[in-house]
Amino acid sequence: MGDVVLRHPLSSRIVHFVNMICWYGLFITGILVYLKLVSNSERALLMKLHIFFGAILTFVIAAYLALTPERAMLFVQEVLNWDKDTIAWWKNFGGYPYKFLGKTKLYKYIEKFWFAKPGCPPQTKYNAGQKLLGLTVIASLFILGFTGWFLYFFREALGKNGVYLFFNLHLWIAILVTLFVTFVHIPLVIVNWPDFVSMFRIGSGTVPVEWAKEHNPKWFENDVAKLEEK
Ligand code: HEM
Repeated sequence: MGDVVLRHPLSSRIVHFVNMICWYGLFITGILVYLKLVSNSERALLMKLHIFFGAILTFVIAAYLALTPERAMLFVQEVLNWDKDTIAWWKNFGGYPYKFLGKTKLYKYIEKFWFAKPGCPPQTKYNAGQKLLGLTVIASLFILGFTGWFLYFFREALGKNGVYLFFNLHLWIAILVTLFVTFVHIPLVIVNWPDFVSMFRIGSGTVPVEWAKEHNPKWFENDVAKLEEK
């Protein structure tokens, strides 16, 4: 095996895994009940499961924040770190449209558009799209947790309009973020296979040095190389 660098430490991988299972568990149970696709008795069971997934997720995130606050802080700092190259990434979505469509006939028609240009400005540990995902997930976990537990424990205190507002925020944020994760995040992490392997394999969450240099040159130069020097 060639040289590798640590990309996803164990605590982040555990939180990501639990979040992934609980998120889809919450989404499926919630949607089945909302769309009334189940009988009344199944509905009660699914709601119990919904609360169960919510409790596990809340507990694991609270434990992550309490036990590894420095890790959580590094993640927040990274997703808030928007420099000129992060902004430049949005000019052509980091070259992904070119990468996917550049060899197809469709490219002939779209090549004059800004989003179809090749090339990717140098990115830090996460590219601009991953930073947007990170910010979206932090905000949505907070809003979904807050509205969900408030509806569960203090429903009466909210009044009719309050329940309507909290419920719709809960529902629509869950739907929008699930669509984003399912149709953007998951396909893109599969394309970036070494990153996918480092997130899910049994063992260390490392990626090859060459991959890190190519995909996240600023991360490699500013953080990884400095650590090596110490
Ligand atoms: C089958 C489902 C999923 C797969 C296969 C998957 C895969 C991955 C992989 C490989 C990474 C590392 C690459 C990267 O940083 O972009 C990652 C990171 C991330 N994923 Fe997912 N993911 C899934 C579901 C979710 C869900 C449901 C959420 C949240 C709603 C989520 C939020 C995130 C976030 C915030 C990161 C960056 C944080 C980190 O690197 O620890 N993922 N995911």
